[in-house]
Amino acid sequence: MRAVLMGPPGAGKGTQAKVLSHDAGVPQVATGDILRLAREQGTPLGRQAQSYMDSGALVPDSVVIGLIEQRLREPDAAAGFLLDGFPRTVPQAEALDALLGTLSRPLQDVLLLQVAEDVIVGRLSGRRTCPSCGRAYHVESDPPPANGRCGTCGTEIVTRPDDRPETVQARLRVYAESTAPLREYYGAQGILRQIDGLGTVEEVTARMQAALRR
Ligand code: AP5
Repeated sequence: MRAVLMGPPGAGKGTQAKVLSHDAGVPQVATGDILRLAREQGTPLGRQAQSYMDSGALVPDSVVIGLIEQRLREPDAAAGFLLDGFPRTVPQAEALDALLGTLSRPLQDVLLLQVAEDVIVGRLSGRRTCPSCGRAYHVESDPPPANGRCGTCGTEIVTRPDDRPETVQARLRVYAESTAPLREYYGAQGILRQIDGLGTVEEVTARMQAALRR
């Protein structure tokens, strides 16, 4: 599998990427998770990304492109990868094509999860996240354990700072302006598959797996 999972904030990319990458035996490469970890560890990358993330803006292309180039050259990505949240701009997509061309490992599939805006707002307002392993919960559809700790790794569950309503609106605007044009970019390459992201997690996974098999 050499695939990209795209979609607006809260569409379910992280939730689905965990299942699909596990089933395919390839790493899930999520730029949001990498940046959040860097912030938590207080690295120079994390300090650089912080203000962009808190306001719902994109971290500069040069920063995330460098990060992905490094990550995809690691040995565990040689047999495949599932990118989650990258690329998010046309220059990022062009840089990815150039890198994969150099490695003779072109992209095979781009899965675009489609979810209506009112559903997105409901998903993000109810999301709770593990800051350590990145697992997402939802207060209604997938509540976290009663002790407030992650069922996977035991870390205390938090609400992401960028899930505040005003920041969610900013992220949706950024998606429409900077990321939605990738639909045309990958449509022209003939590798875009649009997936209905409504329904249970399992129903959406089944649609994505069917699209990957085609
Ligand atoms: P990132 O972490 O990538 O955020 P995002 O794309 O906005 O996506 P989310 O993580 O919010 O949502 P998701 O689609 O993964 O949904 P989830 O599965 O959690 O990026 C954060 C920030 O980092 C960006 O704003 C930017 O600043 C920076 N950044 C990252 N990448 C960058 C890049 N390439 N370039 C520049 N900057 C970058 O699901 C959401 C909720 O819904 C959860 O509660 C979940 O339990 C629930 N849910 C999921 N599926 C379902 C379902 N089928 N039914 C009911 N509930 C569901």
